[in-house]
Amino acid sequence: VLFSVLWDLTTVKMSPCCWLALVALIPVTLGTNPGVEVRLTQTGLDYGRQLGIAAIQQKLKSIKIPDISGTQHVSPIGKVQYTFMQIVKVGLPQSAVGLVPGTGITLSINNAFISLHGNWRVKYLKIIKDSGSFDLNVNGLTISITIAIKSDGTGRPAVSAVSCGASIASVSIKFHGGASWLYNLFTKFIEKALRSALQKQICPLVVDAVSDLNPYLKTLNVEAQVDKYAEIEYSMVSSPTVSKSSIDLSLKGEFYSIGKHQEPPFSPIAFSLPPQVNNMLYMGMSAFTANSAAFVYDKAGALSLYVTDDMIPQSSPLRLNTKTFGAFIPQLTKLFPGLMMKLLVKTVKTPIVTFKPNNVTIQATGTVTAYAIQPNATLSPLFVLNLETSVSAQLFVSEMRLAGAVTLNKMSFTLGTSYVGQFQVGTLDNILQIVLKVVVIPKLNVQLAKGYPLPSIGKMKLVKTQLQVLKDYMLIGTDVQFTS
Ligand SMILES: *[C@@H]1O[C@H](CO)[C@@H](O)[C@H](O)[C@H]1NC(C)=O
Ligand SMILES: *[C@@H]1O[C@H](CO)[C@@H](O)[C@H](O)[C@H]1NC(C)=O
Repeated sequence: VLFSVLWDLTTVKMSPCCWLALVALIPVTLGTNPGVEVRLTQTGLDYGRQLGIAAIQQKLKSIKIPDISGTQHVSPIGKVQYTFMQIVKVGLPQSAVGLVPGTGITLSINNAFISLHGNWRVKYLKIIKDSGSFDLNVNGLTISITIAIKSDGTGRPAVSAVSCGASIASVSIKFHGGASWLYNLFTKFIEKALRSALQKQICPLVVDAVSDLNPYLKTLNVEAQVDKYAEIEYSMVSSPTVSKSSIDLSLKGEFYSIGKHQEPPFSPIAFSLPPQVNNMLYMGMSAFTANSAAFVYDKAGALSLYVTDDMIPQSSPLRLNTKTFGAFIPQLTKLFPGLMMKLLVKTVKTPIVTFKPNNVTIQATGTVTAYAIQPNATLSPLFVLNLETSVSAQLFVSEMRLAGAVTLNKMSFTLGTSYVGQFQVGTLDNILQIVLKVVVIPKLNVQLAKGYPLPSIGKMKLVKTQLQVLKDYMLIGTDVQFTS
């Protein structure tokens, strides 16, 4: 028996299905670090509460009281008919929102009131008939609801009410018209019937108001198109984390080639947002996100540019021709006299973006290939230079986009191949620096200024936005406004 048990255990351990399952799990577990972290603070929740209360108030105004309008037998009078006209007013003067670590949020509404206006009519043995109107006030209404926040199947946040309670402290009713001895007989009955009918309807309506949020949350741009090359994915990589002070969403924050989701040979490093509370919302975007963009654009061949003479300002004495370059490479004037030139500047590997406190640096390795343009438009290669360059980037938020601008830090060249014999590469330094500064970098900045979409929901506007660059990520702190 022992042997058989041991044998079974061994089989289980060695079973290829389990090994495969385990192996299959590894990349999933390793790949869950988010590229972007979004934090909703208590300040943000309070703003959300204002919007939520307005929505709930609207919902409660739709309370229908058909269930209890109609005919009731009230002893000893007989049939009382009452019909409700309308909800006159719903007031939700006090509310608070709080966080429930591990679950979501609680919303509590206190001292709320509902005023109704209705009509009543009494018939008794065809002898007594009376009618009038009444005003009903529901006071001291308390509603408390717990809302869970999860990730739906598509990586968007979804909310659901997990519990709701409503209670009414008092109901007061005031009759107009009719004989008081008569309606005093059924006051108690109407009060009781209404109290329970209202109490029953409040929670379903509030729960409805909560689920009404979901279509809105579904507008999270989980796949935001950037341009013809790239899109950025903002789906949640795990369920939201609710702590005592915030709700944190972990988003993928990765650029992909449009239609082709190839993973780069690097993955996000875990980072956590600093404990800041002044703004409603904080977004941390990691260097991984920026590097995934560099990977996509480099792979798409988008990081290459032909520089022609017309791109150099007229005012510059530097012209892209064999005469200018001939001053440094004398053999050019002999081999290719009087020809215009063209330079192809491109990356040869994915540029590396580094975030350090107050400093974003992009290091790029590339080549500069120089051509002479023959009269018949054929390009004759002259030489290829290897280029190492580093630029500093300033980042800024514009509308719902993150934009940037770079300036040249340093560059260095070495000769890769020459088709025109030996020459001193160093002598070209000034010319190439001008080409980078007046053509390549401005072109790049035009692209960077267009910006990259930030995660957003609905018609969201950012106000009081600040951006700081920290180690390995940059942090945007902002307030938001929703316009409908
Ligand atoms: C950022 O750091 C790089 C290298 O560490 C340095 O060359 C560059 O000057 C710095 N940029 C700024 C704006 O401080
Ligand atoms: C263009 O001109 C160059 C130089 O004169 C010559 O070598 C090349 O064969 C010509 N190409 C074509 C396509 O005519």
